[in-house]
Amino acid sequence: MSERREPEMTVLLDPDWASGSLVDDVRRGLTRHPRTLPPRWLYDDHGSQLFDEITRLPEYYPFLAERSILEAHADEIVAASGATTLVELGSGTSEKTRLLLDAFTRAGQLTRFAPVDVSEGTLRAAADEIATAYPGLEVAAVVGDFTLHLAQLPQGGRRMVAFLGGTIGNLYLEERKAFLGALGDLLAPGDSVLLGTDLVKSADRLIAAYDDSQGVTEAFIRNSLTVVNRELGADFDQDAFSYIPFWDGHMERMDMRLRAEVPQRVSVPGADLVLDLAVGEELRVEISTKFRVSRIAAELEATGLAVARVWTDEPGDFALTLAVKP
Ligand code: SAH
Ligand code: AVI
Repeated sequence: MSERREPEMTVLLDPDWASGSLVDDVRRGLTRHPRTLPPRWLYDDHGSQLFDEITRLPEYYPFLAERSILEAHADEIVAASGATTLVELGSGTSEKTRLLLDAFTRAGQLTRFAPVDVSEGTLRAAADEIATAYPGLEVAAVVGDFTLHLAQLPQGGRRMVAFLGGTIGNLYLEERKAFLGALGDLLAPGDSVLLGTDLVKSADRLIAAYDDSQGVTEAFIRNSLTVVNRELGADFDQDAFSYIPFWDGHMERMDMRLRAEVPQRVSVPGADLVLDLAVGEELRVEISTKFRVSRIAAELEATGLAVARVWTDEPGDFALTLAVKP
């Protein structure tokens, strides 16, 4: 029986990253139209906890849909990848990833698991639990930003990079292109990507998933204002905003905004910024792009990867695509 190995933690985010990078993002995002806040700031400890609650909501089908695909196909995925190292981007609690780790264990194939996330507390807790649940496995966790640090992720072995949950849909088109390009460049021949993507479906179901009856998603989106208030000394007043989630059929994405209900002046001293918001003005906090299988394949192939297999759940709500670097 193998011994538990203590997880290694590599911190690639410098200690000032949160404040420095938040200042840049807030200055850039809040002075353009529509005013925008980048979604990585949603995941402080409270935000990560709210996301975890979202995954348990009956309306939030993506988590269950992706889990059902992994339950049915994890062994095939693992065999098709031939991987000995599993890198996971935006790993969060790595809850569903255990289905892959179980399949890797059955195949006796995996030596190393490298979860990567900006949310340090969540990552540390997850790495610790996984090291206990999978004795003998080398857990090499990385506190890092997948839009900045791909080139510094663990090298060696045959790697499968899993990017689950549909998180790629939270990137804007230009960011997604840059991200996929960097990912394609980083992989060695034989390495693969396992990409989870939420698929286009009826607007009613999409809106229900992002406007749940318990208000957890609204609290998650509103947490962006709490983060800016706390980190940059801003004075956003939650009561002066309403939550507006809508389906943008042209861009095929959910768009989650906060709308000013009264005219207001907001100070953000940490970013040296004063905003005058008119009634009805909106802050875009997050997008969640929904995909078609053909588009996912085209975008992966454009980065020089070859799509090996696509798995969907029974109702066709969600897709997992395995693409290999030739
Ligand atoms: N993969 C998990 C969690 C998805 S939530 C699942 O499928 O359920 C999105 C995760 O990505 C969060 O844990 C968040 O902290 C992380 N994240 C968001 N932006 C990131 C970035 N730029 N770099 C690294 N991690 C990021
Ligand atoms: C992490 N990501 C894929 C989630 C999504 O569905 O876009 C984040 C989320 N936002 C609101 N609910 C869930």
